[in-house]
Amino acid sequence: MSTDEPQIRKGLAGVVVDTTAVSKVNAETNSLLYRGYPVQQLAASRSFEEVAYLLWHGELPTAEQLAEFSALERSQRALDPAVRRVIDDLPLTAHPMDVVRTAVSVIGALDPAWADSSRDGLLRKSYALFAKLPAIISYDQRRRRGQEVVEPDPSLGYSANFLRMSFGEAPSYVVLKAFDVSMILYAEHSFNASTFTARVVASTLSDLYSSVVAGIGALKGPLHGGANEAVMHLFDEIGTAENAAGWLEKALAQKRTIMGFGHRVYKKGDSRVPTMKAALDTLIEEFDRPDLAALYDALEQAMTERTGILPNLDYPSGPAYRLIGYDTEMFTPLFVASRITGWTAHVMEQLASNALIRPLSLYDGPEQRSVPEPPPA
Ligand code: COA
Repeated sequence: MSTDEPQIRKGLAGVVVDTTAVSKVNAETNSLLYRGYPVQQLAASRSFEEVAYLLWHGELPTAEQLAEFSALERSQRALDPAVRRVIDDLPLTAHPMDVVRTAVSVIGALDPAWADSSRDGLLRKSYALFAKLPAIISYDQRRRRGQEVVEPDPSLGYSANFLRMSFGEAPSYVVLKAFDVSMILYAEHSFNASTFTARVVASTLSDLYSSVVAGIGALKGPLHGGANEAVMHLFDEIGTAENAAGWLEKALAQKRTIMGFGHRVYKKGDSRVPTMKAALDTLIEEFDRPDLAALYDALEQAMTERTGILPNLDYPSGPAYRLIGYDTEMFTPLFVASRITGWTAHVMEQLASNALIRPLSLYDGPEQRSVPEPPPA
């Protein structure tokens, strides 16, 4: 190979495209830092609202800043009737991710200041999407179940209100905590596929809503966010713990991808799994589901023994969302509600020091040739 032959990095694997101060994924030490803070510590002691603020502003909020941010978030939770109407018109055959993608697009189209890409303008839009996503997701789940809409309750924090809008009642402490932890763990993960997609769109100086809509499209895929939903389909297919090893043997022989396992960056285990697994364990106890715990353990053990490939965050979060009560198709939209924080923090970072993202490709199609004479009419 000649030295001037361009080196192709399929899937951009191992390519460093820019700096970021939002988060640090260290596969070697199995750690994840949001703005310098270990995510496990944040999950143990802070609310999702505080973590969202941290991702956007670089520092945790003071009590006063949190109160101000929280009041703003609580005041913007309701959906515009125009957004509800568009959701109502979508068929139930549409995947909930398509509903979320469409609703965000409508919110953008309704914002007369859509083009305001000042730091304040970007923050305002980010806060609004953060506040409204729970209403979109809850509205969609309830319409699919034929249930009445539950309006937001401004007396409740983000996660308590989200769960109440979804299920019509205030959650238990265990459910609330597990859900909030999942939101914190899903919030940010450096240049993952959907965040990179959002940054590519931002780099063209398009608007923030377009970046988020593109990010939602990327997240939908089962190799990325769609895996939490796919994990649950696997559990349903396997049925019981006793079937796990035999099922896996067959699936691997058929060259199937086992959802919820493996990661592009973490090869020694996903730093977020122990925290989410601990949250899942509390739910398993609360709902008395040792069968689910047994299936979880059996598949993990068989997969690890057979391939050495370890679970990623989607593996514990899928069953956790099932126990909390969400329909399987709603799992990836829940990921959107969380990752909106990371995406928008990255859009702001991209725009603060922008360069159009536009890689090169190595052409391997036919050599130049002349267009043949058109066939006679
Ligand atoms: N099931 C079965 N085989 C898997 C696997 C999985 N979940 N994850 C990786 N592998 C295999 C690959 O097929 C590859 O095998 P090969 O060398 O025989 O071709 C080998 O392990 C190495 O994987 P690699 O190519 O380094 O992984 P990647 O970086 O391209 O892909 C993922 C990372 C996430 C796309 C991949 O692990 C995957 O598809 N996981 C399932 C989807 C998922 O859970 N996604 C959520 C990620 S947070």
